[in-house]
Amino acid sequence: MRALTQDRYGWDALGVRDLPDPVPGAEQVLVRVYAAGVNPYDWHYAAGQPLVARPMLGGFTGPRPRVRGADLSGLVVAVGPGVTTFAVGDEVFGFGVAGTFAELAVAAVDGLAHRPVDLTHVEAAAMPMAAVTALQFLRSAGLTAGQRIAITGAGGGIGHFAVQIATAWGADVTGVCSGRNAAMVRELGASDVVDHTRADFTAGDQRYDVVFANAGRYPLRALGQVVAPGGVVLANDGSKDGLLGSMPDMVSAPLVSRFRPYRVVNVALSESGADLAALAGMVSHGVLRPVVSATYPLDDAVEAIRQVAGHGHARGKLVVTLV
Ligand SMILES: NC(=O)c1ccc[n+]([C@@H]2O[C@H](COP(=O)([O-])OP(=O)(O)OC[C@H]3O[C@@H](n4cnc5c(N)ncnc54)[C@H](OP(=O)(O)O)[C@@H]3O)[C@@H](O)[C@H]2O)c1
Repeated sequence: MRALTQDRYGWDALGVRDLPDPVPGAEQVLVRVYAAGVNPYDWHYAAGQPLVARPMLGGFTGPRPRVRGADLSGLVVAVGPGVTTFAVGDEVFGFGVAGTFAELAVAAVDGLAHRPVDLTHVEAAAMPMAAVTALQFLRSAGLTAGQRIAITGAGGGIGHFAVQIATAWGADVTGVCSGRNAAMVRELGASDVVDHTRADFTAGDQRYDVVFANAGRYPLRALGQVVAPGGVVLANDGSKDGLLGSMPDMVSAPLVSRFRPYRVVNVALSESGADLAALAGMVSHGVLRPVVSATYPLDDAVEAIRQVAGHGHARGKLVVTLV
């Protein structure tokens, strides 16, 4: 099969190469990939950024897995031992276990769900990492109807799903994004939009029950200034590179929560098939829809990853197409 692979960190190491077809193990299936969503996660693995994360990305010299891509939508073409929930011929979307910018990918059954019938494969492939992360963060904040939430990166992958989920839950949403994404963010449900190229939302008078920070590299103290007492900062901006990246912010979150009048929460994504199914339910109820702003053939997947590296300005989701 053809796949985007690398044996060491760095953009120049990435290339589309022929690899042996993968074989599904117990509780896994083999998926013919039709489309695969692009995430900043792919940049972290491709470039080995931040440097301190390299042991978790696979090692000091190169990432593991070697194949890039985490999200997929496609067709089950083989099942491993013990699989009862999916069968050959099922159309699925979810998380691959060893790379998805490839013609074939292995996925664990508990990281998959059936493709929503209302979505194309390109749209379904846009959902797994970004939509599940949005859902898990909003759930961990305990967001309820009537609460006010500000979402930075509202025009990007996680943000545009978070705007829709929070709106569906009855929250009042302020989206923080660049002006070119303002109309889209309003259409997705935000009652107010702050253009981060013109104004700093952390300097305003508004107070929010929840601030969901996906982008902008706002200092925690600044985010805390616009959180109502007893509120929550969802710290999810991993865009810094260099030696430590966003690691200090992540590690200090529990400590900060002890000394400030708000809670700081990080969530490490759990690749949950149950959450994918819940999101598919929202799609079928007409309250959630991925926005895909561009597709890239496998041969141009590196360019797609570059678009979400560091201070990315993607609108909605970018998707690599395999067929
Ligand atoms: N916790 C986890 O397990 C987990 C999982 C996945 C991802 N993440 C992290 O989540 C973050 C967001 O991921 P994503 O997939 O949503 O990224 P993305 O698709 O690249 O979107 C980022 C968005 O932020 C906007 N932006 C840039 N600067 C901004 C600013 N100053 N204020 C407000 N918006 C700004 C960009 O466009 P405009 O500037 O044009 O509006 C873009 O739309 C990443 O740092 C990633 O590492 C964490």
